[in-house]
Amino acid sequence: MGKMSRRAFGRYAGVLSVTLAAAGAGGTLAGCGITNRGKGTSAVLDKRTYNTLDPRNAANFTTALRVPRAGGGLFGILDLPATPIDVTARRRSMDMLNGKSTEALAYEVQANDTTYLNPVFCVQTGATIAPRLINGLDEPTIIHWHGLHVDWRNDGHPSYAVGGGASYDYRFAVQNRAGTYWYHPHPHKVTAQQAYRGLAGLFIVDDDDDQRLRQSLDLDLGVTDIPLVLQDRLFDARGNLVYAPGPMEQFSGVVGDVMLVNGTVNPVLEAEARVYRFRILNGSNARLYRLSIVKGSDRLPVQLIGTDGGLLTQPRQISEMFLAPAERVDLLVDLRGLNTGDVLFLKSHTFDPMHSEMAGMSATSSPQGGGHGGMGGMSGMSGMDSASRLADGEEFNILKLTVKAAAPYDRSIPTTLSRLTPIDTSNAAARSFTLSASGMQWLINGAQFEMERELFRTRSNTVEVWEITNARESMPHPMHLHGFQFQVLERRGSPAQLRDMVVDSQGRIATDLGWKDTVLVWPGEAVKIAIDFTNTFSGEQLYTFHCHNLEHEDGGMMVNYRLPST
Ligand code: C2O
Ligand code: CU
Ligand code: CU
Repeated sequence: MGKMSRRAFGRYAGVLSVTLAAAGAGGTLAGCGITNRGKGTSAVLDKRTYNTLDPRNAANFTTALRVPRAGGGLFGILDLPATPIDVTARRRSMDMLNGKSTEALAYEVQANDTTYLNPVFCVQTGATIAPRLINGLDEPTIIHWHGLHVDWRNDGHPSYAVGGGASYDYRFAVQNRAGTYWYHPHPHKVTAQQAYRGLAGLFIVDDDDDQRLRQSLDLDLGVTDIPLVLQDRLFDARGNLVYAPGPMEQFSGVVGDVMLVNGTVNPVLEAEARVYRFRILNGSNARLYRLSIVKGSDRLPVQLIGTDGGLLTQPRQISEMFLAPAERVDLLVDLRGLNTGDVLFLKSHTFDPMHSEMAGMSATSSPQGGGHGGMGGMSGMSGMDSASRLADGEEFNILKLTVKAAAPYDRSIPTTLSRLTPIDTSNAAARSFTLSASGMQWLINGAQFEMERELFRTRSNTVEVWEITNARESMPHPMHLHGFQFQVLERRGSPAQLRDMVVDSQGRIATDLGWKDTVLVWPGEAVKIAIDFTNTFSGEQLYTFHCHNLEHEDGGMMVNYRLPST
């Protein structure tokens, strides 16, 4: 910590006092505590209850992981038909905290005589689908199919949000290659709250390459090919979700202190000593994870086989990776060589969250904060009005794996997975973006989101190379593009904690080597990406480019761009 310069600190501190004064919150600030919590939320969990849920304590991992399966339920696997199918966004009580019922939101689908909640939709490349969103909420919503190449009417642009009781019909052909995509709400200013309260699911696309991989390793979706949706949440004493960010938490993003995987708190998976596939989505609003699988203090090497937009050309062995909100990694984990009874953990390791300036600011700005000595000595990184007991960048467990005896298994990991044609950038148009803050607002090229206006227009059917530069006095921003998958060309100015992960002379890390729709840009970093903006749809298209820290997105760290018709 304490890497923040005096100058920057002063700037942020100035901003904060203005905001607090404006909010008239002077009297409620004592103790950096729980101010501005929404009415109607009961108190945060008492310490004793929290101790039983704290993911730092390995002994808390006792609940069987909810593995997505065919046959319904939460995250049940559902083959999407070509015929219209109703997807209703509605309130539901759900079992998240063992026995307590949690008021949440879910996408509900009735199919095969059963109820699916946030189904894992499965489709083949080339299939046409026709989901109908029914808005059963009392506020506007719209579904965005994250990572899919669809025309803007099917993309869930916020201007298409429909009010409570209304519906929206989608109909599109799935053009993407096999991969782990996902879907979630996208109404302007309330995306974060709706996603946090439960609206999110996976969208798995299948094709020949993926089938070949699964066959050669005898992988079965829902059995040995396991989607893992990582979400951190805050709960109150009754077991309900708490979402009531104050201004600081709005600015840094909301992090929780209870870990859910596929809606299961502190889960355990009993695994055979064979090869497993884990498709991991960071479904958190704002938390970054530095993932690895450990046995004791040893990191287990895993094979990275895919990223946001599907398979890599070949597996690449890694032992850790950062996963920012909305990013996916596809991993093969070889448990042969382990013994029955061995215990492993998927965990998030310590890292520098690189936004200590905000925490430092909260310490010195509060009436009691004078003794903290500026930026040093802060323990909580998540902002003064956060109720989270688990700081951003802290170490904690996510999933416990216990190894049991194996059925005979003698497959070898293929050396070739798929093809990945590099985008030809020889005639590319260059464009640059700067990410920065002004006041309590995050900006893209100095701009805030405006529903009807685009920041730029691409030329017709042009390849562009973007350089996205994050200010030094900033925080990490996972930047996401609608409409197209892109390729990462280069990283410059990366923080020291990325150094061991760099795999080539362009400064890229292993997770940069596949198709991407979301790329994390660290403070001080410049990331170059290539995008082929060929408009394969009819008419102009209006898409967004935004930060996928959902509080940032809602706060306007988003811009429109327009694709001309061809
Ligand atoms: Cu997953 Cu516009 O977002
Ligand atoms: Cu998206
Ligand atoms: Cu951001």
